[in-house]
Amino acid sequence: MGRLIYSMITSLDGYVADEDGHFDWAVPDDEVHAFLNDLERPVGTYLYGRRMYEVMVAWETTPTVADQPPGIQDFARIWQAADKIVYSTTLETVSSARTRIEREFDPAAVRQVKASVDHDLTVGGPGLAAQAISASLVDECHLFVVPVVVGGGVRAFPDHVHWRLDLLDQRRFDSGMVYVRYRTTGPGAG
Ligand SMILES: NC(=O)c1ccc[n+]([C@@H]2O[C@H](COP(=O)([O-])OP(=O)(O)OC[C@H]3O[C@@H](n4cnc5c(N)ncnc54)[C@H](OP(=O)(O)O)[C@@H]3O)[C@@H](O)[C@H]2O)c1
Repeated sequence: MGRLIYSMITSLDGYVADEDGHFDWAVPDDEVHAFLNDLERPVGTYLYGRRMYEVMVAWETTPTVADQPPGIQDFARIWQAADKIVYSTTLETVSSARTRIEREFDPAAVRQVKASVDHDLTVGGPGLAAQAISASLVDECHLFVVPVVVGGGVRAFPDHVHWRLDLLDQRRFDSGMVYVRYRTTGPGAG
């Protein structure tokens, strides 16, 4: 049985991209990348909304050769080795290996995938994750909080969700970024 993890890098005020659609402030430095890579290593399947996929697919062609920093090479290898399921009504083809398109988000099908694998899964971005959260499919939430306030943009969490969580782990980095890992203790519970 795999756990479904919602993992994002967010501003302190809870945005994954600012009002201009930028998230350059969220780019991990070497220290964070090394930590993040170890978290991603056991993840065998990524569930992506189309917008998140369009950003992440760059890792398919990121060279894993020596002119890249080790953390970048490592993440590219991890990303390329995982299966991807992209949710989209508009995407016609994908440009990465191990990738298939789903035309609708069916919670029962995701539950079945979770039950049939022995590795973890992640879900992102927030638009797709909101549906997984609402369907009580998310087991853990991993947030990297960047020491920046951006005032608006794409929110990490949807409205009207009331979630109780247990803190499992935390870590601070030299950049001021903080990692928090939570387990859901009753999705939808108040
Ligand atoms: N902070 C960071 O480190 C970071 C990293 C990468 C990206 N980002 C940002 O994160 C944001 C992405 O999140 P998002 O919430 O905007 O988008 P998203 O959840 O990644 O993707 C939304 C899209 O997924 C598809 N989708 C969603 N639900 C579906 C369903 N039930 N059935 C079929 N398709 C479905 C739709 O694609 P169609 O329109 O094709 O139907 C929808 O437009 C972007 O702003 C991106 O720039 C931030």
